[in-house]
Amino acid sequence: MTTPALQETAREILADGKGILAADESTGTITKRLEAVGVESTEETRRRFRDLLFTTKDVEQHLGGVILYDETVRQDALDGTGMVALLHRRGVLPGIKVDAGAKDLAGFPDEKVTEGLDGLRERFAEYADLGLRFAKWRSVITVSNTLPTATAIALNAEGQARYAALAQEAGLVPIVEPESIMDGAHGIDRSAEVTEQVLAATVEALRRQRVALEGVLVKTNMVVSGYAGADQAGPDEVADRTLAVLRRTIPAAVPGIVFLSGGQADEQANANLDAIARRGPQPWIVSFSYARALQSRPMSVWAGADENVAAAQDAFAERLRVTGAANRGEWSRDAERAAS
Ligand code: 13P
Repeated sequence: MTTPALQETAREILADGKGILAADESTGTITKRLEAVGVESTEETRRRFRDLLFTTKDVEQHLGGVILYDETVRQDALDGTGMVALLHRRGVLPGIKVDAGAKDLAGFPDEKVTEGLDGLRERFAEYADLGLRFAKWRSVITVSNTLPTATAIALNAEGQARYAALAQEAGLVPIVEPESIMDGAHGIDRSAEVTEQVLAATVEALRRQRVALEGVLVKTNMVVSGYAGADQAGPDEVADRTLAVLRRTIPAAVPGIVFLSGGQADEQANANLDAIARRGPQPWIVSFSYARALQSRPMSVWAGADENVAAAQDAFAERLRVTGAANRGEWSRDAERAAS
């Protein structure tokens, strides 16, 4: 696929203030989340929960893309349509998480490297045939006063670029997601420093491996204070620090940048997103690609019971409305609280 075609797909996903739902939890991750609300995790419960999300009224007003996990791609919705076809029909582009997870990096305690490159060309060919239009690869960077090491940054950046080159070769837009983890007691200065190093190294690797920046989306953490730290920066500081790091590292050729919620409280993630949007136009489209901040609430309302589906869909629609408002810089704490 040509670079302009990839660029058009990337822009289509984020057109008109829309964002991305990350419904691509691996079986291990979704199992933890389902069990936390008392639901046994089976192929069927996972299918029912994801069906509930994708068939919620008006999702297409707020979502330009949904990231799926391999299992979901091969499942039918409850109405018998394939999940991928269902999303296409609603005008929401389906994407696919292709990494095999962040694994311990040998010789580097507490650091991770993302696996999944072997056989990826063949997997991409199949995903393209199945109608998937974009992909995601997440790498995980541990942040402390002494981590990450230069080695962990470099290896993860090279992996991102190898994946992105293969995605583009197959005609899928790669979402490049190097997540600097905001757990820990580090302050916002350290978050900014590491996020900048990681994004800079990632973009450098993309260039070295001839990835077309016009056909890439970057997914990143917001620059926040470490969650365990004593001082927590407010939304204005988060917005300024986040945008400063992005402007230093992400070329204007990249069509869009999306934020993960990263375990922030729903309200916090949206307060920060709203403050970022209020800073006005940026060189790239800026939007959201949340998993937890969109799904936690509907999942707990549903709790595995058919009779709760309508209420869970209302809760999801409400999460989408307030997140959409934050993405336009029109969010208010009162509306957020009314929605939770
Ligand atoms: P969270 O919004 O829950 O951080 O998830 C986003 C995501 O896709 C992480 O890979």
